[in-house]
Amino acid sequence: MKITYSNASLKKIPQHLMVAFHFEDADTLSFSALKESQSNLIDTLVDNKTIKSDFGTVTPLIGHEGLPCSHVVVIGCGKVEGFKEAELIKTMASVTAAIKSSSAESLALCLDDLTTSNRDARWCAGKCTETILTGLYEYDTTKSVKADPSTLQEIHFITEESDLDQVILTGKAVAHGTNIARELGNLPANICDPAYLAEQAVNLADAYDEVEVDVLEEAELEAMGMGAFMAVSRGSEKAGKILVMKYNGGAADEKPHVLVGKGLTFDTGGYSLKPPAGMEEMKWDMLGAASVIGTMNTIAELKPKINVIGVVATAENMISGGATRPGDVVTCLNGKTVEIINTDAEGRLVLCDTLTYVERFEPKTVVDIATLTGAIVIGLGHHATGVYSNDEVLQQKLISAGQASWDRGWPMPLWDDYKDQLKSPYADMRNVGTRAGGSITAAVFLSEYAKNYKWAHLDIAGTGWSSAKEGASGRPVAMLTQYLLSQ
Ligand code: BES
Ligand code: MN
Ligand code: ZN
Repeated sequence: MKITYSNASLKKIPQHLMVAFHFEDADTLSFSALKESQSNLIDTLVDNKTIKSDFGTVTPLIGHEGLPCSHVVVIGCGKVEGFKEAELIKTMASVTAAIKSSSAESLALCLDDLTTSNRDARWCAGKCTETILTGLYEYDTTKSVKADPSTLQEIHFITEESDLDQVILTGKAVAHGTNIARELGNLPANICDPAYLAEQAVNLADAYDEVEVDVLEEAELEAMGMGAFMAVSRGSEKAGKILVMKYNGGAADEKPHVLVGKGLTFDTGGYSLKPPAGMEEMKWDMLGAASVIGTMNTIAELKPKINVIGVVATAENMISGGATRPGDVVTCLNGKTVEIINTDAEGRLVLCDTLTYVERFEPKTVVDIATLTGAIVIGLGHHATGVYSNDEVLQQKLISAGQASWDRGWPMPLWDDYKDQLKSPYADMRNVGTRAGGSITAAVFLSEYAKNYKWAHLDIAGTGWSSAKEGASGRPVAMLTQYLLSQ
């Protein structure tokens, strides 16, 4: 998609489709342009309430003489004061719906109309780019009838702002990474398995000179002493893997930022079997991994001068004669033992060994991303990612990055008070606490393996996806990208 911008008037832009924004209590440039070209028509349509200004209303104006282009869509934006980030994003959903239902090849959008929200034109340019491009993504890979591809080739922002190249580039790259994460998430587990994720990592390294990849196979992980990882992976016929993607943009001696993603391509729960209703949702248990692969794509595209290592711990939590039993005790890579009370608390088991493994990279910071607990969905719903950290500055940086990119997180505690729940009479720790504070005890479990570096944990069980209809959200690619670029 070509995305351009200029301060030319709407009349001078040869667009096929124009979206005009109409506020209740302010005149926008795009709406004035409509009135200027066809004042009688527009006034009549406003008077007879065909065109409304209520937030979320959409009025297509097709085939009227004298308008700046053949297809105009007026989008109601409500009152100026109430038009903020969420409203801008919902408005962009109306824009993508208009793009999908038209056969236009170019779209003109007056960006400066949207600065009436609490963000400036630069922010809006980035966010509009990102949300239009993610809005055009539609999952159809496993359908025999494919969605019609959009005919749109170019989006033109009309704005007085003159320095938007970088934000548009970033918006595009974040959208690409987000859509990659969504596609990986939406694919079923019989296609998107550990080998498939490994292929994505290899493809990334093939596409970019700055990226190297290393795929660690099960035999190696077993030999290394990853007893916790193997306790999860050994129940499946599909071999688990650890994928290491290194993006080298900084000096060779510069310490890397490490991302670690939970990549359970399916989670049955193991012998602590999940109930049948909704079990299909556990194909999404690899969204942390998907967000790491998506973010690595975004970073490779943007080429910042930093070093980033994306690590994916991927396996399948299944049942078989060799699968782990509740009560089994395993030895982790760091030598600590864990009593596996519940085989469904498997994410922390694959992650704890991976957190030990990444010590060798002498990381500047490590951020793990995981659909770790149902409890975080109860606590924060589908809106905020739970942000844990053993370093207050790092925690605040991630929350600020989420605020800036509008992919928000909220701070969660890692107090020692929660640690008692993890005491075991048979091992150094057990892998679950009680029901109370389930997301926190999971994070506290992980923190035991992240003592040697600055570490944060993002529980995305609520934000990575919201419903089967919405599918995978691609979060938190935007937050992670913002975080890394601000380094
Ligand atoms: N993958 C699940 C967590 C999950 C739940 C992700 C809902 C997405 C939506 C995780 O492996 C799990 O099963 N967690 C258990 C932990 C419990 C056994 C302590 C949970 O949250 O119930
Ligand atoms: Mn589980
Ligand atoms: Zn899981």
